[in-house]
Amino acid sequence: MTVPATERAAMARARELGAAALGTTSPNPAVGAVILAADGSVAGEGATQPPGGPHAEVQALAAAGERARGGTAVVTLEPCAHTGRTGPCADALIEAGVARVVVAVPEPTQLAGGGAERLRAAGVAVELGVEQDEAELGALGPWLTGVREHRPQVIWKVAATLDGRVAAADGSSRWITGEQTRAAVHRLRATCDAVVVGSGTAVTDDPQLTVRDADGRNADRQPLRVVVDRRGRLPETARVLDDAAPTLVSRAASPAELLAELYERDVRRVLLEGGPTLAAAFLAAGLVDEAVVHLAPKLLGAGPSLVGDLGITSITGALSLETVEILPSGGDVQLRLRPTRHTGGRQSVRKRS
Ligand SMILES: NC(=O)c1ccc[n+]([C@@H]2O[C@H](COP(=O)([O-])OP(=O)(O)OC[C@H]3O[C@@H](n4cnc5c(N)ncnc54)[C@H](OP(=O)(O)O)[C@@H]3O)[C@@H](O)[C@H]2O)c1
Repeated sequence: MTVPATERAAMARARELGAAALGTTSPNPAVGAVILAADGSVAGEGATQPPGGPHAEVQALAAAGERARGGTAVVTLEPCAHTGRTGPCADALIEAGVARVVVAVPEPTQLAGGGAERLRAAGVAVELGVEQDEAELGALGPWLTGVREHRPQVIWKVAATLDGRVAAADGSSRWITGEQTRAAVHRLRATCDAVVVGSGTAVTDDPQLTVRDADGRNADRQPLRVVVDRRGRLPETARVLDDAAPTLVSRAASPAELLAELYERDVRRVLLEGGPTLAAAFLAAGLVDEAVVHLAPKLLGAGPSLVGDLGITSITGALSLETVEILPSGGDVQLRLRPTRHTGGRQSVRKRS
């Protein structure tokens, strides 16, 4: 769909605004909105506030004030038409006198749907589906996964040496990657509602699993820490049980059961931080949506590999991933990947539509 360059730039900015709100909005979507004044200049910006707070459009309208009249609202998700904890955004846009609304993703739920119709009925021009894929793969991903699959989005994050080792033969795994990469991991954690590890990692590494700044101070908002510990191996002294953040020790028998448990708790974005055994269980079940792999320019030659047994015995059965992004990270390399297909092994991996 072709829209003017000013609106494309505003949509890119709206995606950024939504992304900056990730980790604070669940179970609501992380939406971004930009109001362009009638002359095309940016009049206001907004993003979804924590549950109960204003939606992105309302925040952007408040920032724009009278400059919204005759202007264009550019929003990553179709404005809602229903009254939940806040009023309908479609009505707020009509009252503000906006002449045109440009939307990336049409509202998929019946409850909040009908915004575009309501706007059109009031004489507002509406464009739906503008750069929809980009918005779906960005900050709206966690919420859309919830709507479509009734489970949280799963980001699997792993740090490995060039030969794919996640720990040395003696079990030590601290400082595989450099400072810049470790800081990036804390920023990634902050965008998630829960951080998950298996009992193996919790027992071997005793991680705290909190979001910390460069000086090691814990952030105010912390994701739920989750240890999947089916046999009760986690010692009472484990650092993950300290009072720095809430913690769930789950006995869930399978990744799907764990995700159902987390979904019930309004978790919409999970960071799966290992280890190789639990990661293999998620991958084999087709429950990884994205992988963030940090590769350090080091070789160990021995030690656990980044993923455990996937039940794949032939190259034709390899689990394929699509490379989304490759970024240098200090001396390391960060790869963002998405599983695409799985032709063999224990179970088939879900193909993203
Ligand atoms: N470099 C990195 O990024 C990184 C990250 C994490 C870990 N590591 C390294 O990985 C090593 C630990 O590996 P690991 O494989 O033992 O860790 P893990 O995957 O964290 O833990 C494995 C354990 O998780 C439990 N589990 C719970 N639900 C499961 C399920 N559905 N399927 C399979 N297992 C499930 C199992 O124990 P129960 O049956 O008792 O519950 C299993 O033995 C350590 O050396 C650590 O340093 C490295």
